[in-house]
Amino acid sequence: MAKPKVFVTRLIPEPGLDLLKQDCDVQVWPEELPPSREALLAGLAEAEGLLSLLTDKIDAVLLDAAPSLKVVSNYAVGYDNISVPDATARGILVCNKPGVLSETTADLAWSLLMASARRLAEGYDYVRTGKWKTWGPRTFLGWDVHHATLGIVGLGRIGFEMAKRARGFDMKVLYTNRTRKEEFEAMMGLEWAPLEQVLEESDFITLHTPLNDETRHLLGAAQFKQMKSTAVLINTARGQIVDQVALYEALKSGEIAYAALDVTDPEPIAPDDPLLSLPNCLIVPHIGSASHATRNRMAVMAAENLLAALKGERPENLVNPDVWKNRKSI
Ligand code: DGY
Repeated sequence: MAKPKVFVTRLIPEPGLDLLKQDCDVQVWPEELPPSREALLAGLAEAEGLLSLLTDKIDAVLLDAAPSLKVVSNYAVGYDNISVPDATARGILVCNKPGVLSETTADLAWSLLMASARRLAEGYDYVRTGKWKTWGPRTFLGWDVHHATLGIVGLGRIGFEMAKRARGFDMKVLYTNRTRKEEFEAMMGLEWAPLEQVLEESDFITLHTPLNDETRHLLGAAQFKQMKSTAVLINTARGQIVDQVALYEALKSGEIAYAALDVTDPEPIAPDDPLLSLPNCLIVPHIGSASHATRNRMAVMAAENLLAALKGERPENLVNPDVWKNRKSI
């Protein structure tokens, strides 16, 4: 029997590709940049499975051009690149990978927090460009992390990992979330507060919400005004959660002290974006989950989800379980 055709939109780590190759006829997009729309359409013409990345826009037009497609397995936790209702309407399973990258992403968010607090990027630039002449009593003064207040916006898995890390620094932790998590409050000594209070009282504010209609531009000019002038903003979630024009104004005018972003809107950020001209804004290229071990695990999970679906088994991480419930045969 012919193996099912699967299109993989980038060279993911070997362990995932090896798994797929055992049971499928795998076509991998080999370039560093994502496939163009045309290449994606061509790759999907006969594919039963698609292993997509967050850089691939999966919408109704694309799904209609993929008559054999049964499953889209996204190599990410977030799936805002996929029109899930359109996939559901066509009986196509959509899978993601919750949990796999929480600790690794929290590690990166914590690195950004520490790097911002102690102005590491500016310090390195100062050394590298030969400006370091002597020990300076006022050189690169930053903000203490220990005993400061951390504000977590979105207490999902990654937000929870941030709260865990904050305990080691004796921080007070406020969080805001659509639903209160009283068991975490008791377990970790967290305090729930409305967004406005979190913004007003926190020294460090870290974003961990998914991107959706409610969270798009959750932080804009009005919210930056509510924040302390010494506040540091960390975003490892999605760039569109922050109004970047307003962020630039807030950083430039000193309304807030610092921002560290792993995600931008758009990605990549344009090389002439004004944010890149600011010394108090640190930007890295969406590397929250980029550890060797986590990226390998992500590849294996994405492959396992996809293979399960093609074998007619329920994938573990299903975003649209209704498709599974209503399936006739797959
Ligand atoms: C995700 O999985 O959603 C991250 O942003 C990429 O690792």
